[in-house]
Amino acid sequence: MERYLTFALGKGRLAKKTLEMLETIGISCEEMKDKTSRKLVFVNEPLKLRFFLAKGPDVPTYVEYGAADIGVVGKDTILEEGRRVYEVLDLGFGKCKMCVCGPKEGENLLKRHEFIRVGTKYPHIAKDYFFNKKHQTVDIIKLNGSIELAPIVGLSEVIVDIVETGSTLRENGLFVLEEVCDLSARMIVNQVSMKMEFLRIKELIEGLKRIL
Ligand code: PRP
Repeated sequence: MERYLTFALGKGRLAKKTLEMLETIGISCEEMKDKTSRKLVFVNEPLKLRFFLAKGPDVPTYVEYGAADIGVVGKDTILEEGRRVYEVLDLGFGKCKMCVCGPKEGENLLKRHEFIRVGTKYPHIAKDYFFNKKHQTVDIIKLNGSIELAPIVGLSEVIVDIVETGSTLRENGLFVLEEVCDLSARMIVNQVSMKMEFLRIKELIEGLKRIL
């Protein structure tokens, strides 16, 4: 008997886009479309697939421990969580950039490698960027949302955050000062599942590659 292949999807826009993409290669989950349902795990019985939604940062955790074989989550989350998983595919949607942002004055502070405060939801990414790449000592302050507030109210000189359209920055008089890396939705796979379920996972990846 074939075992279930389990997908963990990051809640929200990412999951919606992923399900649309899977549908185009013939993988659908009708159960998941019932918005009134309080169910947490959805099954496609004929294809022996299971799906569940989780908070983005938890997706790599489920995949590392093998509670999910496959996950779909943003590159930002993969970098921040640093879990032992294989990143197998760039799904091409959810494109944005991780950037150092702040008021124009921030530019000089960065150039002079000053000891500044950096507000961010991504302390690991920020640390790696400033300490390992730029060799600049900074004080990293972990925040949980509305990061753009930090330089406006004087909590930090700059922030490390996601920029998509740039409108949040513009509307708050802030600028991209440096680019850290490109981001998009990625497919990740558990390291043991990759070996044990190689053919099924390979077929899935190849199916998605064809439509990308
Ligand atoms: C993200 C990010 C920026 C904004 C960027 O925040 O942290 O604030 O989107 O998008 P833009 O360049 O298109 O304006 P999100 O809305 O996810 O919420 P958060 O601030 O609570 O993290």
